[in-house]
Amino acid sequence: MTVNDIAAHAQSLSAPAGTVAPTPLTLDRLSELTATVAEEVRQGLHEFHFDAEDRWSVRLHADDYTDVWLISWTPDQSTRLHDHAGSLGALTVVTGELVEWYWEAGLRERTLPAREGGRFPLGHVHDVINTSDRPAVSVHAYSPPLTAMHYYEVTDQDALRRTGSILTTDPEPDVPTLDSVPSTEEAVTGEGRR
Ligand SMILES: [Fe+2]
Repeated sequence: MTVNDIAAHAQSLSAPAGTVAPTPLTLDRLSELTATVAEEVRQGLHEFHFDAEDRWSVRLHADDYTDVWLISWTPDQSTRLHDHAGSLGALTVVTGELVEWYWEAGLRERTLPAREGGRFPLGHVHDVINTSDRPAVSVHAYSPPLTAMHYYEVTDQDALRRTGSILTTDPEPDVPTLDSVPSTEEAVTGEGRR
């Protein structure tokens, strides 16, 4: 089954009971999709590159229901704590190993080796990092297609605080630095964005 077959199949599905996202695809279906495409990458069907300066990514597929991205990670490359707004998501590691920091009543860590991955229900907040000394490659899928991301930090009180939001179709966007996001105090006093 190819990525196009799975996407086509998704269009024939009716939303199952319990679906909270505006999409007929489920987390199981997205995981199946990323696992299938990850295998295609291992078979050499999709080219990828590594870029230590700017994280490299390419969109392999897009339709009304889902988009699929191939992303590479050189050592120490990471995202920042973020969610995927109104989209469900999943990832499968193709090669190498990634670490996911995710929020679950506190910041928790799990290692994602090759052929394994994670799934991102609505509200899932995470940071993905290549902490190894080898490059890594992963396949990500989002449904509905990604349109926005929210960024977060963990406060001194060990709570999650949203620091910014962007409209984006790219899971690897250039994100604003924390310095550019005014704190609530600054916003109230009118110092605002610099
Ligand atoms: Fe993410």
